[in-house]
This record gives sequence, structure tokens and C-alpha cells, in this order.
Amino acid sequence: MGYVGWRPARDVLLGGLRRLEYRGYDSAGIATVTPDSPTVEVHRAAGPLDELVRVTDAAGEGDTVARAGMGHTRWATHGAPTDRNAHPHRDASGRVAVIHNGIIENFAALRAELEDDGVELASDTDTEVAAHLVARALDAEPEAGFTAAVRHVVNRLEGAFTLVFTDARRPDEIVAARRSSPLVVGIGDGETFVASDVAAFIDHTRDAVELGQDQIVTLTREGAVVTDFHGDLAPTRPFHVDWDIAAAEKGGHDFFMQKEIEEQPAALADTLRGHLVDGRIVLDEQRLSDQELRDIDKVFVVACGTAYHAGLLAKYAIEHWCRIPVEVEVASEFRYRDPVLDRSTLVVAISQSGETADTLEAVRHAREQKARVLAICNTNGAQIPRESDAVLYTHAGPEVGVAATKTFTSQVVACYLVGLALAQNRGTKYSDEVEREYHALVESADAVKEVLASAVEPTRQLARDLAGSKAVLFLGRHVGYPVALEGALKLKELAYMHAEGFAAGELKHGPIALIEQDLPVVVVMPSPKGRATLHAKLLSNIREIQARGARTIVIAEEGDETVRPFASVLIETPAVPTLIQPLVASVPLQVFSAEVARARGYDVDKPRNLAKSVTVE
Ligand code: AGP
Repeated sequence: MGYVGWRPARDVLLGGLRRLEYRGYDSAGIATVTPDSPTVEVHRAAGPLDELVRVTDAAGEGDTVARAGMGHTRWATHGAPTDRNAHPHRDASGRVAVIHNGIIENFAALRAELEDDGVELASDTDTEVAAHLVARALDAEPEAGFTAAVRHVVNRLEGAFTLVFTDARRPDEIVAARRSSPLVVGIGDGETFVASDVAAFIDHTRDAVELGQDQIVTLTREGAVVTDFHGDLAPTRPFHVDWDIAAAEKGGHDFFMQKEIEEQPAALADTLRGHLVDGRIVLDEQRLSDQELRDIDKVFVVACGTAYHAGLLAKYAIEHWCRIPVEVEVASEFRYRDPVLDRSTLVVAISQSGETADTLEAVRHAREQKARVLAICNTNGAQIPRESDAVLYTHAGPEVGVAATKTFTSQVVACYLVGLALAQNRGTKYSDEVEREYHALVESADAVKEVLASAVEPTRQLARDLAGSKAVLFLGRHVGYPVALEGALKLKELAYMHAEGFAAGELKHGPIALIEQDLPVVVVMPSPKGRATLHAKLLSNIREIQARGARTIVIAEEGDETVRPFASVLIETPAVPTLIQPLVASVPLQVFSAEVARARGYDVDKPRNLAKSVTVE
């Protein structure tokens, strides 16, 4: 985050970092620029933001007169999360400071060049070179100006870098450059902001301007000037943030994830709203003709982590409704295996943040191969939707907890909307059938509300009972399989517990060897009213593990009496259509992981080693 204005910069920056902390939290730092000081004042601290607050408080009133500065929360890529590697970094004279998101891939060569010239670098980071290089550019051509010096340097950098610079000799100016990682400008009254996310400045202004790829912004109190990497004025996209501060606060909940779990009915309703118009499914942005969509003969879904699990569910819906083959792939693997893509391939990229580097690169690769790209995203105007041919936004609102919850279930319904749009376009479903499916999706919000009312408390109790377990396994079949994977991911990332999700049928091919006395195994049962064979097969799987001593925690449709004798613990969910079941079955698993983490004394919203937006590959 960067700030130029009339308020004490230190307060603005620490307040903004508090809202950005979810993006990275292994260390943090601020730099402030005070008129007439020859150096930029920097405070940094390893650990959570509270450490930095302690350090700045201890520094006393020194820099409270500064009205400009910048701050950073770090997720380490190069160099351990220590005080000396925390950002901001300064050049040797202390005149220029920089903060950075991303990776400067040619930093080793630049570092060697500086060291050959006798410059001593103070950190192990890839970032620090940028401060030295800008200071040198300013010294070499003092009249060219701060922006020109930054432009000169960014043109030498390779990789993904979003950088913000301050210069002690310019206490009223901040310069930032964007390549890959996101950057938004906030325009206030006599003050301007720049940040990775509008949440950083939403306390002060809701008027924002989004920076595009390879753009530089120069901030002063009067406003922002945006140029490209050649120095030409660049077109900008101003927008008004349509959510307020309350949406980004805990609202009486102990932690954000809890609030976000409970927001799911609203998130689902908001994601679906307005997408059925005159009996037809409409997307948010569509730069593809109906004919181009009809020509699609193959779909790839690419995504990471939880979004990948939503993608697995897309496969069941799209293949069933549209009769098009669908492959789902982890985005980081996609482009490296040379997938067969052409104009008649649709790549569906799912990303809550719209910034995930792995997914973005998969999108770019797909477009280079002439495939069509449709993005499902929760962040308006983020890079992935910008680079896509069609977009469907999930309207889950800001998700601060690092663990995806409401964005997951919203992604699932968004995937289903894409399936319905394709089905109507290809004529594999009549419009009355499309309408019926759409209304079933709308009703899913009530089913999720019901499960929140009935299953949360028993699940919490169960979580507290099992918090001491060494491992938990998750089993499912058909649409219950991605739910099992997602349940395991949540538990791993929040409770740091060994957790694995399996297709229940795979158990006998190896993983059943893991079963031992009292091992908790969560089973996602299909509806007894669905395909009878599926239900019967899973019942057999439960018996197999129970016979080997497992403690079975079964998530089943209410009224499914056949499963009761085999469940050590039964969590009932409302009866819903097959494709909706993942939405209701996921909720207890989200609650379970959060509660186990809490019982183990971990920070539910900020699990160790993770960050909300992963903008490096
Ligand atoms: C899950 O709880 C994680 N936060 C993570 O797996 C996440 O879904 C993944 O990093 C993808 O993020 P994205 O949706 O922003 O692309």
C-alpha cells in the first residue's frame, strides 16, 4: 500500500495493512517520508502485523509528521521471513525505498552487477536490487524525474513485479509500477492511495482506478497520473467500490471465516441473481458469439486449490447437461504438458481472486493456442477476467479468511450456470429444463441456510472431540468426491493435520491400509433417492472401514436410515438434487476444519505459510 495526503501516513498505512494482512503475513514493514529528511524512515518486523505495530510504537513520535509513505505485508519467496528480509528495502544511502509483490526473475544478474560496482546488499531478497537501481537512475539523471527513473528500472526487470517506490527528496510523491500482481489506485479528497486491494483504503475512499498490465502511476495529493512502460499516457478505468467497510469487517464473529461460512446463502443468491433473463442464462461479459460457443467441442477447467475442486464439480454438470467432454486440471500443470487446444476448445478458468499466477498463465497459454477462455471470478476487473473472452462473476463479496468458503460454493453455482448456458446454446436442454435447473440452484441458498441452522453446532462439538487426532480421511463418490477433497484441503490448511480425500472406490486399491483403530473417516453419502448403486456401494465402503476399526463420521441426507447403523457420528443435511448436494455437504466440513483449528489454538483466518492471493508461480 502507498499513501500521499494530509493524514499521518503511519496511521493510514498500519490501518490499510491490517486489511491487507490476509494477503501475506510472515512479516511487515512501513516506510514514511518526512520533508527535509535525507532518508526514508523504515520500520520492519518479522511475524504478524502486531509485531510491526509494536516496533513503530516503540519508535515514538519520530515519523508521525510524515504525510506520505508505503507499507507491505510479505509472503516470502526469496529469503526467509526475517526482519532484514521484510519490505520496504532501501538503497545504500537510504534515499529510495521499495516494496514489491511477485518475483524479479533476473535479480541474480542485477545483484551481481550491483555487487561488481561495490554495492553491498542488505537482504537476501530479489526486491532490494530495485531500490538500488532507482537510486542510481535518479543520481544519473536528476532532472529526468522520479517516474522516469522508475520507468528506466522496470524496463530492465524480468518476471512478475508490482513495485511501489518512495524518494526521500520527494515527500509528496509516490511512484508505483504494475506487472502481473494487482494494483488499484484510490482517489480521495486531497489524498491518493495505491494498494493491492481496495480493502486497504476503503476506510477513506470508494473511488478507485484500476491499473493495467505494464503501467506506472505517479501519485501526488492532487491525483494520479498513469503512464505505460514507454512513458505514454495510458487509458484508465475508474470505478466505484460497491461494498462498504462493514462487508470487510467481522461483524460480531470471532473470525472472518465463521462470518464467511454464514454468508453463503446470500453469496449464492447474489451470484445467481439476474442470470436468467427471458428464459435464457446470461453471463456478465461475453465477447464470444453464439456460433463460437456452439462450436465448442471440448472443455478444460483450470484452477488451483479450492477453485480446482469447484472445477471438478463443473465436469459432472457440463458433461451431464451438454454432452461435451470436460477435463479438469490443476492450473500449474496445464501449460507444461502441451494440452491439445484450438478454436473449438473452451477453457474455463476459476479463480476467486482473479490474480492467481498459475491460473493466469494457464489462461495466457490457452489464448496463445487460440482457445476461448471463460473466467469465473470474485474480483471485478481482476487480471484473469480481463484477459478472458467471457466472464461470470461470483458475487460472494470480499473473502478475508484465507480458507475459501463462500467463494467455493459460489464458484460451484457459477460453474453450473456456465453448464446451463452451454446447454441452452447447444440445444441439449430445452429452455423450460434450463429454467427448472436454475430455480433449483436458487433454492440451494435455502438448503444451505437450513444446514447452517441444523448442522453447525453438532459439527463444532465433533471437531472439539477430534481435535487431538493425528489424521482424518475423507471419502466420497461422484459429486461427493470433490467434496471429500475439499474437506481434506480445509483441514490441512487450517488445522495442519494430515488429511486426505479419496474416491471411496479407490480405497481398496491402497489407502485402506491407512485405516487403524479409531481413525476418523468422514464419508460423504450420496442421496438414497439418487442412483441406487452409488448409495449401496458407499454403504459397503463404510462397512469395510468400520470393520477395520475406523470411526465413521457420515454426512448423509436427512431420513437416510440405512446408513445410521454404520455411522459413529451422523451429520444430516437437507434432501436436495444430486448436483446441489456438494453445496450442503461442504458446509459442515468448513465448520469442522475451522473448529479443529480453533481447538488446536491456531489462527483460523491466517493459517501458517499461506496467503490469500498467490501471485507467484
Ligand atoms: C483454499 O482454501 C485456498 N485459499 C486456496 O486453495 C485457493 O482456493 C487457491 O489458492 C486458488 O485461489 P484463487 O481462487 O484466488 O485463484
